[in-house]
Amino acid sequence: MSTQSFTNVQSGQMPPALARADVDGPLVSIRDLRVYFDLGGGGAFDKLFGGQTAKRVVKAVDGVTLDIMPGETLGLVGESGCGKSTLGRALLRLTEPTGGQVIFRGRDLAHLTQRELRGARRHLQMIFQDPYASLNPRMTVGQIIGEPLETFKLVGSRAERDARVRELMTTVGLSPRFIKRYPHEFSGGQRQRIGIARALAVNPDFIVADEPISALDVSIQAQIMNLLEQLQRERGLTYLFISHDLRAIRHVSDRVAVMYLGKVVELADARTIYDEPLMPYTKALISAVPVPDPKIEATRRRVVLEGDVPSPINPPRGCRFHTRCPFAIEQCKEVVPPLAEIKPNHFAACIRISPEEPHIEQVAPGDAPGLRQTGRRLAQ
Ligand SMILES: Nc1ncnc2c1ncn2[C@@H]1O[C@H](COP(=O)(O)OP(=O)(O)O)[C@@H](O)[C@H]1O
Ligand code: SF4
Ligand SMILES: [Mg+2]
Repeated sequence: MSTQSFTNVQSGQMPPALARADVDGPLVSIRDLRVYFDLGGGGAFDKLFGGQTAKRVVKAVDGVTLDIMPGETLGLVGESGCGKSTLGRALLRLTEPTGGQVIFRGRDLAHLTQRELRGARRHLQMIFQDPYASLNPRMTVGQIIGEPLETFKLVGSRAERDARVRELMTTVGLSPRFIKRYPHEFSGGQRQRIGIARALAVNPDFIVADEPISALDVSIQAQIMNLLEQLQRERGLTYLFISHDLRAIRHVSDRVAVMYLGKVVELADARTIYDEPLMPYTKALISAVPVPDPKIEATRRRVVLEGDVPSPINPPRGCRFHTRCPFAIEQCKEVVPPLAEIKPNHFAACIRISPEEPHIEQVAPGDAPGLRQTGRRLAQ
């Protein structure tokens, strides 16, 4: 990535097609990203009044390292509360990261000034779970979709804005005749289309789609997923697709990252994650998803997860999954497993597996081959 491209990103004047061709490495590089929420406590005042004496910090995202490649859909999956939305928001700096880096086209977003950040935001957009909550009920569809066009000065006149809005409405499958209508006059699926049109208005490169279909009827979900796929093909978009729904993730993703309590615990291409998960948490998650082929389904072993996800306020030491892991041994309570490459381009965080012994069921009882490995490539 050249310095030239940074300058252009800042001024917001780079033609989008050129911007994409300019990228050969990852479009977004996330390095040791941390987002902590301070809930207070631990002060002299708290102690004086017999309140909470320990400082309470929610470690919503705790050391995530990932690369997102141009044109791919990276699926981010995990149980509710594991930090998916916080990670997505931190990438766009809608939530301030506590530490680490988010490098977009070679530039660390954390170190941009507010003005520079506004310029960069044009290239980074978000689609939300609840389209109704994210659309201003007092604005017409024309105003909602047209607002970012005006903010970024991409149109000169009202007529030009409306022409562009009509075009965008057509692109997402909405009739331009409805340009003067309000959000409440549309169905859930149509409202999500409005949200998508608004995100597309500024011609972004990267879209974080946070549970974009979870609030929709099942019959509408496929339509929205197909629309997102079609837009990706036509415009070379890169997606971070966040969902707790493993079936949706399988449908749309090229690669999948599995999150557990603020950390990525497995990363591989989508097929591999579903066919050969390596890390015990992923195995448990995947085993709960029915396979369409009844013969395969009949032979599958179901791993039942005991208990709820522990609180991210005081997450378990060592491997955060040890309190629920059927394979846990004593060392799991002490060692934080790194996300290591167990098979080519297949990363997993577990001390009880290694490239030589990737299948935990075949590892000798009590053994932790991952601890013997040194110099193994980490997902950095
Ligand atoms: N603004 C905030 N203040 C305090 N805690 C937060 C805030 N936002 C999220 N959290 C907490 O961070 C954790 C991760 O939340 P979230 O990123 O929304 O998870 P997910 O999207 O995977 O369900 C949860 O424990 C949540 O309660
Ligand atoms: S490190 Fe230990 S607790 Fe964590 S997934 Fe592996 S076996 Fe389970
Ligand atoms: Mg969420």
